[in-house]
Amino acid sequence: MPVTAILGAQWGDEGKGKIVDSLCEHADVVARFQGGANAGHTLYINGKETILHQLPSGIMHPKVECVLGNGMVIDPLELWQEMNNLQNQGFPIDERVHISLQAQIVTPIHKHLDAKTELVLGSAAIGTTKRGIGPCYADKANRSGIQVRELREINAVQQKVNEKMEQLRRNNLATADEIQSLLHSMDQFYTASTAILPYVTDTSILLNSYIHAGKNILVEGAQGTLLDIDFGSYPYVTSSNTIAGSICTGLGIGPKTIDNIIGVYKSYTTRVGAGPFPTEQLNAIGDYLQRTGKEFGATTHRKRRCGWFDAALGKYSARINGFTAAVITKLDILDQLDQIQICTHYENGSFPEIDLQSAVPHYISLPGWQQTTAQTHRLSDLPKAAQQYLRKIEELLEIPITYVSIGKDRRQLICLES
Ligand code: IMP
Repeated sequence: MPVTAILGAQWGDEGKGKIVDSLCEHADVVARFQGGANAGHTLYINGKETILHQLPSGIMHPKVECVLGNGMVIDPLELWQEMNNLQNQGFPIDERVHISLQAQIVTPIHKHLDAKTELVLGSAAIGTTKRGIGPCYADKANRSGIQVRELREINAVQQKVNEKMEQLRRNNLATADEIQSLLHSMDQFYTASTAILPYVTDTSILLNSYIHAGKNILVEGAQGTLLDIDFGSYPYVTSSNTIAGSICTGLGIGPKTIDNIIGVYKSYTTRVGAGPFPTEQLNAIGDYLQRTGKEFGATTHRKRRCGWFDAALGKYSARINGFTAAVITKLDILDQLDQIQICTHYENGSFPEIDLQSAVPHYISLPGWQQTTAQTHRLSDLPKAAQQYLRKIEELLEIPITYVSIGKDRRQLICLES
């Protein structure tokens, strides 16, 4: 394995958490390199659902260490809560969580500004998760953010936050009530900021020492390629680079240390929030996928928009990330359909030459299999039509499929590697 990245190839919610969790049996470390509490990685272990927002999915494996890299924007309040919840459920945390000294801190002010901006944008809103991600990365780029290492001098952080509160007041960015409620949340924010300090370390030194020791490291992406701030459906994107290129800047490891880059694709397409979605099905098919796939956002609980597999964008993702392999998730959700469509290309050009909003998908139709696949353990046991569907996707993406997920549980995973 040495360093293997598991990244989202669509608009997020591809099921990366389950894949990381399943591959953790052979991993020593799982590291996240971007994003923050906007992520929602849903895991089902022994029938119980756990949603992780900031801790990497490896946390459910007691022997795996977890790294929150410098490229992340960390909300101490929510992270501390997440750590406590897991500890209370019997998952040990101490000695296993390592937070980068150089990650950015999300304050309650960032969350307030995120919600406020969305409100002001009205119908042009991005549909963010309101977790303060955009404002926090903006402060980072403006060189006015707070790095985790600064929490060691909490008085200086308080002074910085007070100045930001003052700016809010001066610029009328918060009503008197909102200021009161922000002040109220600050005590808890400082308490949590101090509580996470024992977990703070130089994670670049740590990861590089683990790489030299030959440990197996999984890198867990959050969101997906089409939400990448450079290569996604801008401006309807998140505020970080979600693609393979940002693993190095988000973890402090060299590009030559990354051995495998695996793209996770759902067997159909979903997205939450606003923005173009060429293969969206605003009809009975979309409703079927949403209902059968239980497509609700893990962070915001919004209904996800649903549509057919888009191989035009899938191939784009494979190129942008340099995927060495693909994983297909939720194949079982297609079980009852009699015909399944795949968008092979756009009839009027390709992205980004054409705006995704105007893309005209060209579809091919494949026969469905109308059989349950959830109990299958081998590719050869899948219905022929399901095998044909996977082979067509493989042919269109031009990368091998190594795993297929056919259910929520970590054991419902077919390995295609011989
Ligand atoms: P933000 O990351 O909260 O700023 O949201 C920007 C866009 O990314 C919105 O369309 C969100 O719905 C979307 N987004 C952010 N995180 C996730 C995720 O983990 N899964 C799917 N969509 C996400």
